[in-house]
Amino acid sequence: MQKFAVLGHPISHSLSPRMHLASFASLGFDGSYDAFDVAPELLGEKFKELIQQGYRGLNITIPHKKAIMPFLSRLDESAEKYGAVNTVVIEGDGTTIGYNTDVYGFLTDLKCKDVTVKGAKILMLGYGGAGAALACGLKNAGCGELKIANRTVREEGMLPLSSNECIAYSREVDLIVNVTPVGLKEGDEPVLPIEAFRQGQVFYDCAPTSHETSSIKCAKIAGARAFDGKGFLIHQGAKAFELWTGLCADTAAMYAAIK
Ligand SMILES: NC(=O)c1ccc[n+]([C@@H]2O[C@H](COP(=O)([O-])OP(=O)(O)OC[C@H]3O[C@@H](n4cnc5c(N)ncnc54)[C@H](OP(=O)(O)O)[C@@H]3O)[C@@H](O)[C@H]2O)c1
Repeated sequence: MQKFAVLGHPISHSLSPRMHLASFASLGFDGSYDAFDVAPELLGEKFKELIQQGYRGLNITIPHKKAIMPFLSRLDESAEKYGAVNTVVIEGDGTTIGYNTDVYGFLTDLKCKDVTVKGAKILMLGYGGAGAALACGLKNAGCGELKIANRTVREEGMLPLSSNECIAYSREVDLIVNVTPVGLKEGDEPVLPIEAFRQGQVFYDCAPTSHETSSIKCAKIAGARAFDGKGFLIHQGAKAFELWTGLCADTAAMYAAIK
């Protein structure tokens, strides 16, 4: 049996075990997939332990996507380029390689949903680890103007999240991407009000929730096309599985398991 796991803190909300195990079962793949809640100060120790126990691959989630980097033998160019690791391949001799499959997962899902990135005017809400990686991925994919709105305005040109300026700009763009955790919990307030959306635009909420977020509800009421982050989660996971095993994951089984 090949062993895999996801490391995060907290981790109980993670849909990754359910999603990967459904794909393993459908493929007849002999694998296990655990979820470990790892406090930041114990990350290095836990990582070493899992290598010794013969784990073949890991997913890395909040808050460890940058913190894992110093423990790896090397980084793939995707991790170098996007500055975060969400997938680790562990080779037979214990060599560990860090990859970023988040950007691939996000862009693949946009493509599946017929959302045009090339030349599109985009507003991204949130600029943490995932936000920074996705912004870089969107630029590499040839998007048009890209503005960031964040709770903490850290850089020149950033808009304060939910300010009047942010709401006005939001109505102008082709694509709005929410990459804050607002919406992950059922009952969270919308990240932007209804008047920030309009017909003809796309709202992509990265939260891979089974409930419809209030932001998605607002976007739909305003007539926008709106999507949650389940497709993003599935495609980043499918790519991770391919890196670990060289096999194609069953994305339909993954979707059925988390929908
Ligand atoms: N579907 C998927 O597979 C997938 C993959 C990766 C990420 N995601 C989603 O992306 C989200 C962000 O991930 P991350 O790794 O970038 O996290 P992160 O590094 O912790 O960054 C969080 C970002 O959200 C902002 N933020 C946090 N709490 C907020 C609040 N209450 N109100 C407004 N803004 C808030 C932060 O602003 P400050 O700078 O002001 O702190 C920061 O910009 C996750 O929660 C997850 O839902 C989904």
